[in-house]
Formats: sequence, structure tokens, C-alpha cells
Amino acid sequence: MDFFINTDQASTASPKAPGVGNAMMRFIDAGAFNASRGIYTGAFDTEAMLYRTREQLSELFDAPRLKNVTFSSGVTLAINALLYGILEKGDHVITRAMEHNAVIRPLAQLCEEGRIDFSTAMADEEGRLDPERISDLIRPQTKLVLITAASNVVGTCLPIREIGKICRERGILFAVDSAQAAGTFPISMRDDHIDALAITGHKGLMGPQGVGALLLSDAAAGLIKPLVCGGTGSFSQLETMPEPLPDRLEAGTLPLPAIAGLNRALDWIEETGLTNIHKHKADLTAQFLRRVNKMPEIRVFGISDPEDREGRVAVVSLQADGMDPSELSQHLSEAGVLTRVGLHCAPRAHQTIASYPEGTVRFSFAYSHSLPDIDKVADILKSIVQTS
Ligand SMILES: Cc1ncc(COP(=O)(O)O)c(C=O)c1O
Repeated sequence: MDFFINTDQASTASPKAPGVGNAMMRFIDAGAFNASRGIYTGAFDTEAMLYRTREQLSELFDAPRLKNVTFSSGVTLAINALLYGILEKGDHVITRAMEHNAVIRPLAQLCEEGRIDFSTAMADEEGRLDPERISDLIRPQTKLVLITAASNVVGTCLPIREIGKICRERGILFAVDSAQAAGTFPISMRDDHIDALAITGHKGLMGPQGVGALLLSDAAAGLIKPLVCGGTGSFSQLETMPEPLPDRLEAGTLPLPAIAGLNRALDWIEETGLTNIHKHKADLTAQFLRRVNKMPEIRVFGISDPEDREGRVAVVSLQADGMDPSELSQHLSEAGVLTRVGLHCAPRAHQTIASYPEGTVRFSFAYSHSLPDIDKVADILKSIVQTS
């Protein structure tokens, strides 16, 4: 395909931040040494790179302590590690009725095993959640509220600070799935009262696939047991997992080339500035919404007001009259516009916004897109819906 515009960025950032590929290659070409397992320069260099990446994550998300920054493969493993690590029989969890399967499936599995119970707070048709809906569901057994910072289906942001405040006041742990918000919106573990922040490196953080993190408050760090056990290169005399973090949660060899790539991506975010990234993506989204709002054949799901720049990330879901979403996505792809179609791993979201079972065509934008790119995408969309 000669011409294409990739508006499937919510799935994975493509292209990655400038320099990510080179950073990964440099790590491998320099010897790809493991950390914590050798007393030679290459091992120390890897240790330093790991330490710096923990620092970058800690700075970006205002984590309470460096050792509470633990690496994972992405949000999915981070959430599983959290749920299996802190929940006990009889515990109750609250989430939102629009969450990604990375949240719903481990909760459903734990529920099926008879270990926990969970409740879902209803969002409105735009994906907004009134924090009071969370309060209404709290029981004496509620140990955790787990919510996404921004919907991967409609892009709507959640009032995480208000929800975090409720959790703090009620003595409940608060966890956030940052998959769609990290790298675009500021998230502060301290100010937002977050006890566990699940991070993926390959979306808004613009890094490679295969790396993410789970950042913990001291309260959550004190409770969490390891989901995966194995070698850590430390405390080798012990037959059980070491108690200190991050070792307790980091069994096995870490995805070091991916961490080297994430390290470069996080530098790029710092150089570019979150405010600039958010502003540019909000400009792109507003322009796209202005254009599609003028197409009578298109129905936008979620927030369609182009002026609502703080209430959403750069993710727009839509359907076209009389056309199956997969047919529309196929036509777009043939014309060079890459989108994602279907339920986007979040069936309950589509039940909430009334697009179940067919789902939506999802457009999601990157900092590397320009306003003319958005106009081109809108022109192509318009010509497809008008000619079919
Ligand atoms: C809201 C949300 N949560 C979780 C995930 C899962 O992330 P990962 O595949 O990196 O574990 C995604 C990815 O699509 C997502 O959009």
C-alpha cells in the first residue's frame, strides 16, 4: 500500500516515538546484557538503564517511591498481577460497565472461581461516569475500585481524581487502567489518590510492544503477593520470592530490549511535553469531529462536541447509516485509512452506548498526524458513505 494514514493508534502507536527502534537495536548490539545477574560493565549498564526507566515512569506518573515501580508486559499482566496479588476470598471490587476485557475477564474469572464478587457502575451513553455511582455500590467487603482513565471505545475520560478521593475517604484501594490516557493526559498517583496504576508502553507512551508497568502506593505494595514466582537474580538463597519490591513482582528475565525502547520513548515524551501532545491530539480530534458532525450519514458515539477538549482522548467511534461497520472499515482500508472495527475488546461498552453487537469503526489519532491528514481521512470517509 503506497498511501496510508494509520488511525488505529489506540490499538498500538505506529510509528513509535523517534529513536525507539534505534534504542532497542543499540541495546542488543551493545551485548544485550542481563541486569542483576553479573558483575561486569555490560550488566551494570543494563542495571542503570532499568533504574533510569523506573525513574522516568515514577516522574511521569508521580509515583510515591521508585522501588514501587515494577515492570510488566503491559496493562493486562499488570491488572492480573494486582487482582491475583491483593484480592482474598470474599472481597468485593467495583468497576465501570464499559471496561476493557483486560479488566472484566480477570474479574469474571475470579468471580467464577468463587473468590470474589464485583459490581459495575453504569456510565451514560457518552461514557461519562458520575462518581456517586461508585459510592452507591460500596459494601463493607469492597476492597478495590478499578477503573480506566479513558475509554478505548469512545475516548471519554473518567473523573479519576474524584473517584480516587472517594476511595481514599472510604479506605478502599483505587486502581487505574491508564492504557488510553498515559502519554496524553497528566496522571498523578499522589494527587489522584491512586494505589495501583497499570501502564502499557506501546500505546500513548509511544514505546514498543511487550513492556508495561504496575506502579503501587505503599498501601498496595504492602499487600501484594507475587502472581509469578521465579528467579530474580537477587536473594538467590531463598526458595520463596524476595520480599522487597520491585523484585517481589519481577520474576524471570525482563523484556530488556523493549524497556530500552520505552526508555527512549519516555525521553521523547518529556522533550515534547504532555501539554503539547494533548493540545495537538485535541486539535486533531476536534477537526475530525467538526467534519463528521456535518455528515448526515454518520453517527458518532460518545462525546461529539468538538469543543470538549478535556473530556476525551483522541479516540472516535462511529457508524454509517445502512452500512455494516466491518464493510465501512474495509472500504476505508482499501482507500488507505486504517481503522479498527468491532467491539474493541469491550463488549459492555457497546451495550452501554447502544452499538452492540455490531460495534463501531474506531478512529484514533497520533501526535505525528497533521490537520491535513485529518481532512484527508474525513474526505475519504465522506466519499465512501456518500457513494454506497
Ligand atoms: C483500555 C485498555 N485497557 C487495557 C488494554 C490492554 O493493554 P495491553 O494489551 O497492553 O495489555 C487496552 C488495549 O487495547 C486498552 O485499550
